[in-house]
Amino acid sequence: MIKPILFLLYVSSLAKFTEKLNYLRNIMQARPERPRVAWAVTGSGHYLKECLEIVRELDDVDLFYSRAGEEVVRMYGYDPKEWVPEGRVYRDRAASSPPVGLFYRGDYHTLVVAPATSNTVAKMVLGISDTLVTNIFAQAGKCQVPAIVLACDSEPEVDTPAPDRIVTLWPRQVDLEHTRRLKTFVDTTVVDDSEQLLAAVHKRLAELN
Ligand SMILES: Cc1cc2nc3c(=O)[nH]c(=O)nc-3n(C[C@H](O)[C@H](O)[C@H](O)COP(=O)(O)O)c2cc1C
Repeated sequence: MIKPILFLLYVSSLAKFTEKLNYLRNIMQARPERPRVAWAVTGSGHYLKECLEIVRELDDVDLFYSRAGEEVVRMYGYDPKEWVPEGRVYRDRAASSPPVGLFYRGDYHTLVVAPATSNTVAKMVLGISDTLVTNIFAQAGKCQVPAIVLACDSEPEVDTPAPDRIVTLWPRQVDLEHTRRLKTFVDTTVVDDSEQLLAAVHKRLAELN
């Protein structure tokens, strides 16, 4: 009886070790030939499908998921890796968010946070960096890398897709206020819907060419 349990423990610790090793290998990848787009996905069903459609059309983009982002993407039936078959995918596994180092060495010319939950927008506005996404937003700011943010809470009433139905939501004053305050940040373009997001991304890419 004890031997199968020990074997299972061994297999599970080996799997965890391999996952950590792959994570570190991913982080330590060579610097890309030219700077790329860092695209952060948080745990929002609102505008998720539209963001996926935009990401799929872009070249040279890497993904950064918050923990909720990775979960919610799966709840809507997507594979977190399928968005960027050629790009790197960073998940929120470590307390210190090691991928921020990629911003220090100039891997990215632009950060896009889309969709951005009420939670992530609130933290970004207050300067809190305790997730992978809020960390890269803070470090992008400190490295003067421009950010484009699609904030979920921009209208007093929205129809939004839950995984199994459309629901109507009424963002609170505090949520709308955070979106408004984020619009005052330097090097930060806050957009209110997916059409504005697409236009802002294209404008930024055109500026770089
Ligand atoms: C199916 C599902 C859909 C969600 N959609 C939203 C959303 O549209 N907007 C939002 O602000 N939060 C949404 N949430 C809640 C966030 O995922 C939750 O607040 C989470 O803590 C956000 O963490 P993050 O900002 O680090 O991604 C959703 C949660 C679930 C389970």
